[in-house]
Amino acid sequence: MAKSERRRQIEGMVLYPIDWLEERSGLVGGVKYFLFRKVPGDLGWAHTLGSATLTAFLVQAITGVILAMFYKPSPDEAYESIQHITNDVDFGWLVRGMHRWGASVFIILLFFHMARVFLYGAYKYPRELNWIVGVFLLILGMFEGFTGYLLPYDQTAYWATVVGINLNGTAPIVGPFLAQFLSGGAEIGADTLSKFYALHMLVIPGAIFALIGLHLYLVIRLGVTSPPWSPEAAGRDRGAPVETGRGRRGLVRPGGRGSANGQ
Ligand code: HEM
Repeated sequence: MAKSERRRQIEGMVLYPIDWLEERSGLVGGVKYFLFRKVPGDLGWAHTLGSATLTAFLVQAITGVILAMFYKPSPDEAYESIQHITNDVDFGWLVRGMHRWGASVFIILLFFHMARVFLYGAYKYPRELNWIVGVFLLILGMFEGFTGYLLPYDQTAYWATVVGINLNGTAPIVGPFLAQFLSGGAEIGADTLSKFYALHMLVIPGAIFALIGLHLYLVIRLGVTSPPWSPEAAGRDRGAPVETGRGRRGLVRPGGRGSANGQ
């Protein structure tokens, strides 16, 4: 059936900005490729853990920005500003609760995702680099939790940070420098709090965003692995008979997915 003139006009109006952007950036094609790329047919729920971790991180980023609009990083005002957020600001209790509990959700999902990658052998050739990027994400995620814990500046926050800094101080060689850097002086005070705040809301999330970008680029470039019980599991050649005796091909003679003989 022929399209009505009105419909064609509306379609033109909607498509014009999209075409404009695509012609000048190729972004629309990139997004289409990301959303409609092929993945193995035998993926399951365990493969959604990476996206779940990403969602948890985005929730932290959004709720964190809202909290930063009301939080005051000074020893005299930090605790009061958190009380103000919880008791007076509209939905402040909800945003703060989501950020506080969301931090645990993020770390738990991070570990579940890492366990899935480990148990499925998805860290094997050619995805070792993505595993290494993941290790940095894990370390940064833990540091994000550590720096955020001081911010309410109550007794728990203060003493937990004392323990954390002293623990770091016991590391060989770098320990004392690390402890000195973290506390920013002889004891925990105003400098420590503003340093932790800057790390917590600028430096570490910025680094995590950048590394997630690299992580997802590698996921898209290399493709997602099938489960280990699949004929197309990580490290196995498509169509090649399963080798016995010398270990599977992917472990001893790396071959890319789909390569006939690992050359
Ligand atoms: C902020 C933290 C992280 C985010 C947002 C994230 C996100 C993702 C996503 C969306 C995928 C593709 C889907 C999936 O396999 O679930 C993925 C795959 C992968 N991730 Fe992560 N990840 C994070 C942390 C980690 C950590 C800590 C490790 C390991 C130390 C890791 C190692 C990998 C590997 C090796 C793959 C490829 C798996 C495959 O091809 O099957 N990731 N990640």
